[in-house]
Amino acid sequence: MIQILVGTNRQNSLSEEIAKYYQQLLLQKNQESNIVSLKNLPEDFTASALYGNIGKNTAFNILRDEIVNATKIVMIVPEYNGSFPGVLKAFIDGLPFPAALSDKKIALVGLSAGVQGGALALSHLGDIFAYLNANVLGMRVKLIQVQKFYKDNVVTNEMYNQLLNEQIDKFIAF
Ligand SMILES: Cc1cc2nc3c(=O)[nH]c(=O)nc-3n(C[C@H](O)[C@H](O)[C@H](O)COP(=O)(O)O)c2cc1C
Repeated sequence: MIQILVGTNRQNSLSEEIAKYYQQLLLQKNQESNIVSLKNLPEDFTASALYGNIGKNTAFNILRDEIVNATKIVMIVPEYNGSFPGVLKAFIDGLPFPAALSDKKIALVGLSAGVQGGALALSHLGDIFAYLNANVLGMRVKLIQVQKFYKDNVVTNEMYNQLLNEQIDKFIAF
C-alpha cells in the first residue's frame, strides 16, 4: 500500500486535492494507496508529541505509524516561503530518529502558486531524506502555478498529467 503524505496542515489545502487526484491516477494503474494528511495532526503536537513526549500522543502516533510502516511514500509538498511547510519538518522531527525513513522509497511532487513549483522545497527535502538514508525517486514533478491548471477536481494541464503518470510508472517499478 502506497502512502500519500499531504505536506501541510492547512485546512482545505490544494495539496490535499492533488493528493486525491494522485490517488485516482494510482488506482487507474491498480495501485492501492492511503492519504496521510498533516491536517489530522493534533493542534498541540509540537508540545505534546516531540522530544521528551515522543510516543505519548495517540493522535500523532496514528500518522507516525502510517509513515513508519510504509515502504513507499509519495509526498505532495506545497511551496511555503520558498521551501516546504514548517509543519512537515516538525512532523519529521517527531518520527523515530534516525531510522524512521531509512530505506523507504519516496516520490516527490511539488506545487506552488508561483513559478518554482516547489523546486527548492523538494531540494531541501531531498537533502534531509539523503541524510536519513531514504531513497528518493529521481523524477520529481513540479506543478508550477497549479491553481491555473486545477479545475473541478481535475488537473487540466496535459503535460502535468503526462509527468504525473510517468512518475507513477517509475515509482511502481522503483
Ligand atoms: C504560508 C504560505 C506560504 C506560501 N509561500 C509561497 C511561496 O513562497 N511561493 C509560491 O509560489 N507560493 C507560495 N504559497 C502558495 C502555495 O504554494 C500554493 O497555494 C500551493 O499551490 C498550494 O498550497 P496549499 O496546499 O496550502 O493550498 C504559499 C502559501 C502559504 C499558505
